[in-house]
Formats: sequence, structure tokens, C-alpha cells
Amino acid sequence: MNTIKQQLLSDLSVAKTAEQIEQVRIKYLGRKGIVTNLAKETDFSKFTSEEKKNFGQQLNDLKDFTTSQITLVAEQVKSSETDSAAILRLIDPSVPGSSGSLGSLHPITMVQLELEQIFEGMGFSVLDSPEVETEFNNFEAINIPKDHPARDMQDTFWLKNDLVLRTHTSANQVRTLRRFGVPVKAIFPGRCFRYESIDPSHENTFYQCEGLMVDEGVSVANLIGVMKTLLSEVFRRDVKVRLRPGFFPFVEPGFELDLNCMFCGGVGCPTCGDGWIELIPCGLVHPKVLEFGGVDPAKYSGFAFGLGLTRLAMMRFGIRDIRHFNAGDVRFYEQFAPVL
Ligand code: PHE
Repeated sequence: MNTIKQQLLSDLSVAKTAEQIEQVRIKYLGRKGIVTNLAKETDFSKFTSEEKKNFGQQLNDLKDFTTSQITLVAEQVKSSETDSAAILRLIDPSVPGSSGSLGSLHPITMVQLELEQIFEGMGFSVLDSPEVETEFNNFEAINIPKDHPARDMQDTFWLKNDLVLRTHTSANQVRTLRRFGVPVKAIFPGRCFRYESIDPSHENTFYQCEGLMVDEGVSVANLIGVMKTLLSEVFRRDVKVRLRPGFFPFVEPGFELDLNCMFCGGVGCPTCGDGWIELIPCGLVHPKVLEFGGVDPAKYSGFAFGLGLTRLAMMRFGIRDIRHFNAGDVRFYEQFAPVL
């Protein structure tokens, strides 16, 4: 009879609804139930009266046990069902839901992260660099001495103690050479500042991404190869570019790499002017810069470029006015948020 009790308890432990409990009741107490049969099928004629009494007692105990266990579980199930019904009555499913809003990365950050990935794929390191620079690193060390006219093109915000808000990421070239030595392959993206009058394509605060590669035998061919890989990955198609000579005191020879305007297809529009967007000034690192960096120009050569990250983001997302980036109007940023 103990086996029957154990079996009953295990059947009840898996019964979760009133219907399942009724099945258990039928299995044990129904007309052909286990407990019912036990009484029916026992041959009492062979029992002594003492044995009959004992057996009858045990049988009654078993019936009582079975009935009380079944009732107990049935009550538990019933009360948990009414609990959940009560909770459901408290919830009004017709009330509209509230959804949170998701922020997004700034479009320039998106492009920057993408560039970092592309350059890392080509073996470049990604370096952080200071926005407040020494006048030396921003100008002198890259061959722009005090009286050089190039200083006028890059007027900036001057701080005390010969510090400036850097006018370009090139300010980090010499620090990189001194810190890491050669060979070196690195990019340093970051914010730059210039004393500029603001219009749809000029800002006083903008982003660049500098690239520097110095090793034995680096040539213009390496520069062009890296630039082509970069642009075809960013725009995911063949892009039209042109190289023309450009002057920067810290490269020799120097170039301007222009991108065919994607808004007008190269015929000319307010964003580009003549159909071309100045995108990547570049060139071979000037021997004087290498010397300032402690690198022997007779043995090593390299290229540098200063990609306009802000401009690239404009091209990439079709943003026609540079002033949107820093204006702080959330309606602009919301356009880049992921769709929920
Ligand atoms: N630093 C230059 C600028 O901001 C760009 C540049 C970088 C040109 C590296 C050549 C090589 O205008």
C-alpha cells in the first residue's frame, strides 16, 4: 500500500489543472480505480478475523489518504488559478504601451569607427591624440616655422604657454614618430579647430583622420594603393577621384586627392562648387619632419594624409550643410537612430 501512496503523490505532483487532478482521482478512486480494485479483488475468505480487521483498517486509511491528498492539491490549484485571474483583472490591456527612445552614435563617430576598422584591416594602429597642442607640434615640428605664410591659412585659438587648439591632426605626426619610432603605420582621428568664418562647408570645429606610414622604401604608389582601398570600402563602389599637386610644408611632393561630388555627379552644386570635393590632402613625409621625429630621411620614407572626416560623413550620409553636426538639434541626430 505504501507503493500506491508513493505513486499517488508522484501523479499529483505533475497534475497542474483541475482536469488533470480529476484524472488522478479516477485512476485511484474511480469504479475501476487502483484503490477500489484492491478492496474488490482481495479474497477475504482466507483471512482470519484478526487479519480481516487489520486489512480493512489499512484499506480505509489508504482511501482517506488518497481522498485527502487529492482534495488538498485540487484546492491549491484552484487558488492559484484565481490568483492569476485576479492579477489579470488588475491589468488593463487596452492601455497603449510606452516605449523608450534609443539614442544613436553621432554620424561622425559612425564614419570614424568604420575608418578605424578599414585601417586596422590594413595593419594600421589607431592612436588617440591631444586636442590642445604645443605650438611646436602643431607648426614648427612639421616644417611650418613662425614666419611661414601657411600659418595664416590655419589661424586658430591661442591659449597661454605656447599652447593652441590644434588646427589639424598632423600635429600628432612628430609625437608619433618620437614615441613609436619606425617602421610605423598609424591613423589618428580627432577634433580640430580653426578660426574660420562659418558657411555650409566651413566650420571652426571639425574632424580629421590623419594617417602616417613610415618604413624603408615607402612611395607614392603605397599612398595611392591605401587611398583607393579606403575609398572603395567606405563608399562600397568604385569612386571617381583625381590627384592634383597641392602644397603643404610637411610633405614633398604634396597632393590634393579630390572626390567626384556625389550630390551633383560632378557638374557643380552649392556643396562642391566645381564638381569636386577636396577630401584627402596627402603626400610623402617631408625629410625635415622625419628629422624632427628622430628618423633618418636617408634610410626611411613615408606618406601622410589628412582625411576630412567631417566632409566624408557629409558625402556618406548626404548631409549638405556642415553646420548640422555641431548645432545640437536633436531632429538631425534622430535621423541616425536605429529604427525600433
Ligand atoms: N594637415 C593638413 C590640413 O589640415 C592636411 C594634410 C595632412 C596634408 C597630411 C598632407 C599630409 O590641411
